[in-house]
Amino acid sequence: MAEPEKTKIKETPKTPEEKKVNGEIQKIKPKEISAETLAKEFKEHSVAEFFKKNQQMLGLSGKIRTLTTIIHEYVTNSIDACESANILPEIDIKVQELGSEYYEITVKDNGPGLTKNTVGKALGQLLAGTKFHRMVQSRGQQGIGAAGATMYAQTTTGKPVKVISGTGNGKAFSLELTIDPKQNEPKIENMQDIDKEFKGLAIQAKIKDVTYRISEQGPLEYIRRTAIANPHVQISLTDPTGQKTLFKRSSDKIPDAPKEMQPHPKGVTVDEVVTMAKYSDARKVGSFLKSSFDRMGDKAVQEITKMVSFDMNMDPKKMEWSDAEEIIKAIKTISFIAPTTEGLSPIGEDQIENSLTSIVQPEFLKVITRKPQVYKGGFPFQVEVAVAFGGNAGRASSNGGTEGETLKRMEVMRFANKVPLLFDGGGCAITKAVQTIDWKRYGIQNIDDAPLTVFINVISVHIPYTSAGKQAISDEPEVLEEIRLALMDSGRKIARHIIGKKKLKEKEAKKRTYLKYAVEVAYAIGELTGKKKEEIQKKLHDIVLKRLKLEEKEEQKELSDDEVDKEIEKETKKIQKTEEKKKGKKEKIKGIKKVKKEKE
Ligand SMILES: Nc1ncnc2c1ncn2[C@@H]1O[C@H](COP(=O)(O)OP(=O)(O)O)[C@@H](O)[C@H]1O
Ligand SMILES: [Mg+2]
Repeated sequence: MAEPEKTKIKETPKTPEEKKVNGEIQKIKPKEISAETLAKEFKEHSVAEFFKKNQQMLGLSGKIRTLTTIIHEYVTNSIDACESANILPEIDIKVQELGSEYYEITVKDNGPGLTKNTVGKALGQLLAGTKFHRMVQSRGQQGIGAAGATMYAQTTTGKPVKVISGTGNGKAFSLELTIDPKQNEPKIENMQDIDKEFKGLAIQAKIKDVTYRISEQGPLEYIRRTAIANPHVQISLTDPTGQKTLFKRSSDKIPDAPKEMQPHPKGVTVDEVVTMAKYSDARKVGSFLKSSFDRMGDKAVQEITKMVSFDMNMDPKKMEWSDAEEIIKAIKTISFIAPTTEGLSPIGEDQIENSLTSIVQPEFLKVITRKPQVYKGGFPFQVEVAVAFGGNAGRASSNGGTEGETLKRMEVMRFANKVPLLFDGGGCAITKAVQTIDWKRYGIQNIDDAPLTVFINVISVHIPYTSAGKQAISDEPEVLEEIRLALMDSGRKIARHIIGKKKLKEKEAKKRTYLKYAVEVAYAIGELTGKKKEEIQKKLHDIVLKRLKLEEKEEQKELSDDEVDKEIEKETKKIQKTEEKKKGKKEKIKGIKKVKKEKE
């Protein structure tokens, strides 16, 4: 056995962590640092500083994504503001190129505007806004969109955001805005009254390290989808070349304002119960529960009373963490009626139909609204799906078709609370649901070659987003299942349409053949009988048409689901057969070539 190698004793220390003791090199043990010393290093960090360092959390990363995200933040704010003020939204966006990867974005709306007092906090302070702590379906909810954009502008260009706000009664003012990230406070400069007749809010931000692209994730596509999901919004985009695209509204109806909802007992946490109790005006825990939670009645309160160890007549402000824990534990064992769903505000079937017809101009369109459902036991949500087939539906495929024609592939449009989701598709429940569908079953043999647009909108007072960037919905089983059911339902509708189209084609071919033969048969009968060929031909013609009409009547009866399934199965088998034949032929040719080569 080999001797273990002896460690050589070093002559002199090689690193500062080593020292010589009694002629031997030893490692110096690092000195322990006290809490007092560490306390000197203790610093605070504002939320603005946090997001300044973590802008990707707000979707502000990537050159194309950042530009689209900033426009998205301004646009959603404009629509939210107009809707809450009962104004039909009119939004104009302009993107100007100022230099390499350097742009100026202007978004102007006709909404209520902001006051001199609120403008600073609204656009220059993170986590400030009018929409949180409310169980109401809205686009924004965190109060980080507009201020996040202000911060991005100042950190990439050093320039303030310019704002004009006006009431439309000759009163308007302008200002320049930055954020002090240390304090998370707005810094307003040059605020002045202006004599312009202006109604609404206009924001102008200069931003760098971004690119304008016409792509599936670019601003134009974002605006197009916003217009589709919001038929009452008129929106235009002027791109860096000066070209203006206007999406006119296809409806004059402002959606009914979504109602504020109370949280459902099955959806609340201990922390929420404690916080809500602190702010409650109720005098007893029992009445606090009844007045603060959806579906909480006397019976449920009685049951909870039996299960908890504290006095339910206690002042809710005195409630402790352990008391709230007991309440939540009790709630888990009680069954409640599902949450109220009247706070949900879907786009509506007619509205979706209007906008998809005017923007996508499909040959066939079907909209399906599912009934509201609940996820995690406490959060109501609803799914709206539309399928558009033919016409301008589908996305031009980069592969391209043969002989110059463009191939169309299936296009999936994802929305949450009517806001288009263009990023993080891979992790989204909508994409996952679409991927689980076997489209072949519905007559779509190849999704890379199908003029099909699938529109999916998920609405909820609390969309389970996967991150603060709000671009993907987490795959709660109930949400996933609802989307799947809606897709399967729409799949059957497309299948019917595709079969109908195929049958029509077949019938036309049949008619052409019959009529062609009618001419020849008429000639032959004429020869044999000596009767006038024109008359015979006319009679045969009438017979053919009558026969086809009868067939048509038969076909107009709506096909049952089983019949649709059968037809599609037939079609799929046919396609499989031709594909196998093609493959067989190819292999044969390959075989012949191989043999030839071997002979050579
Ligand atoms: N175009 C606008 N018109 C009127 N108010 C606006 C507009 N944009 C933003 N606001 C106000 O500024 C607040 C903060 O906006 P934002 O930071 O995007 O957060 P959020 O939209 O999540 O509330 C909004 O809640 C709203 O009160
Ligand atoms: Mg917002």
